[in-house]
Amino acid sequence: MNPNRALWEKGDFSRIAASMRESGEEFVHKLGITKGLRVLDLGCGDGTTAIPMAKLGADVLGVDIARNLVAAGHQRAKEAGLTNCLFREGDASHLQGIEDRSFDLVVSIFGAMFAPRPFDVAKEMVRVIRKGGRIVMGNWIPNDPTLVAQILKISSAYSPPPPEGFVSPMTWGVENHVLERFTAAGAKRENISFLKDSFTFRWPGGPSELLDAFRNFYGPTMNAFEAAGKTNRANDLAKELGELFTLQNQSPNKFMTSIPATFLRVTVIAP
Ligand SMILES: C[S@@+](CC[C@H](N)C(=O)[O-])C[C@H]1O[C@@H](n2cnc3c(N)ncnc32)[C@H](O)[C@@H]1O
Repeated sequence: MNPNRALWEKGDFSRIAASMRESGEEFVHKLGITKGLRVLDLGCGDGTTAIPMAKLGADVLGVDIARNLVAAGHQRAKEAGLTNCLFREGDASHLQGIEDRSFDLVVSIFGAMFAPRPFDVAKEMVRVIRKGGRIVMGNWIPNDPTLVAQILKISSAYSPPPPEGFVSPMTWGVENHVLERFTAAGAKRENISFLKDSFTFRWPGGPSELLDAFRNFYGPTMNAFEAAGKTNRANDLAKELGELFTLQNQSPNKFMTSIPATFLRVTVIAP
């Protein structure tokens, strides 16, 4: 089994995505989606951004490595009555069956960053976008003090070292790495821009309940707890993450959680 796929088919990312829907819609509204725009959503999960883009009239193809999320996205699109939002299994490092220059916009929100071989990922994104089209990525930033970067950082301290040659997905949150990857794929430096943006995780329960969802359904956190359990440190990990979720929560209502997390928004105008 491909370990990249196994990680994301583990648990059920839909349960986490439920806390990201509003921010997904807000993000999509900033993209200038127009009717008939051909959009590829890479690492689309169950459609947090794909579905709102289709609702705005774009023709969307969502590609994801996790078969359970492709099925969930398909079901959500069907329930929304959308015929312009398709989901397909695929790997962002090697987009089989997708023709060159076939999209106006490629979007990847915390998706393609998790694929192996980042230079291949950049090359594939540039290959499938039309000349002058846009690639927009949202990437978590290493060592950022907000939620996701901290979850991943804390979790790594409880996990075995990654295999040799492993390139951390978080390197997609570092401008120099992004520049290196897209210029190697043929993009021009002056057509690559960056800004900091934010996604808010909203949950209808306290922060410890949101943490429970991560512990039970988010592959990377599930793996961290499994690894911590092997060294009898699962309680320490739970304590550290519990403190993090509580500290970051900005909701004044104790039955609600609202945690903003900063990411790097990358825009590339295709060569
Ligand atoms: C953090 S989730 C984000 C999902 C979605 N974009 C969202 O905002 O809800 C990461 C997604 O990337 C997908 N993914 C990871 N590696 C991938 C790869 N090599 N190719 C395509 N998708 C991948 C995972 O299956 C998962 O759906």
